[in-house]
Amino acid sequence: MALLELKGVEKIYQQGKIEVPALRGIDLIVEKGEFTTIFGPSGSGKTTLLNMIGCLDKPTKGEIYFDGQELGDLSKKELALIRRHNIGFIFQSYNLIPVLSAYENVEFAIRLTDGRTESEMRKKVLDILEAVGLAGLEDRRPNELSGGQKQRVAIARALVKEPKLVLADEPTANLDSKTSDEVLEIMVRMNQQLGTTFIFSTHDPQVMEYAGRLIEIRDGKVSREKKGEDIRVHH
Ligand SMILES: Nc1ncnc2c1ncn2[C@@H]1O[C@H](COP(=O)(O)OP(=O)(O)OP(=O)(O)O)[C@@H](O)[C@H]1O
Ligand SMILES: [Mg+2]
Repeated sequence: MALLELKGVEKIYQQGKIEVPALRGIDLIVEKGEFTTIFGPSGSGKTTLLNMIGCLDKPTKGEIYFDGQELGDLSKKELALIRRHNIGFIFQSYNLIPVLSAYENVEFAIRLTDGRTESEMRKKVLDILEAVGLAGLEDRRPNELSGGQKQRVAIARALVKEPKLVLADEPTANLDSKTSDEVLEIMVRMNQQLGTTFIFSTHDPQVMEYAGRLIEIRDGKVSREKKGEDIRVHH
């Protein structure tokens, strides 16, 4: 079974009396373990699409199946549970909690999911922080970390609950190209080691080079798609 299936997904935002069509019929299947990049110009619908997939918002029309379950009929509470247990988010602006240390930001993500002892939880948080290259920086707060380090905390936070899916909206937009490479390599490694499915959006050709699958959207529709060996990005 595919992890994700979208059928005819449309999204129309209501701006006062004006209707803004953001997605105009997206059909998409994402298999478990894929590393997929969604790219397209500003305003093409990338963030909107990720928000629908991430159960943060509902389509105006069409269906989304997550692990075989149709999301349309679920209540807000049920959607929140799917999010909490199955989906990790990484944002362009990191979205860390400023008053919490790196360690606490990551721990916070699994405090909400039950069933672990304190010492199991501690080990898990320290292991994932080490895996993203932050050993020794656990006690720093976000304002004491560089952009790349903050994004690593966000990656650790997304991965610590071992979600089936990680959604990243322009995760390298605020990083220089060397730091972007480092952060992307961590995500590729996590994808390979843990089998986590990644979907992320970007404008950046450097990011596209890491993709196993590239999906271009324009005006709210999938306009092109490339897989595996066909991906050659020219700078
Ligand atoms: N909350 C909203 N209310 C009204 N219109 C919106 C809202 N959010 C997005 N839009 C519109 O929907 C369209 C798609 O926006 P979206 O943010 O998904 O694009 P994007 O591809 O993520 O762009 P960018 O690359 O600039 O982040 C745009 O025309 C945008 O103006
Ligand atoms: Mg966007």
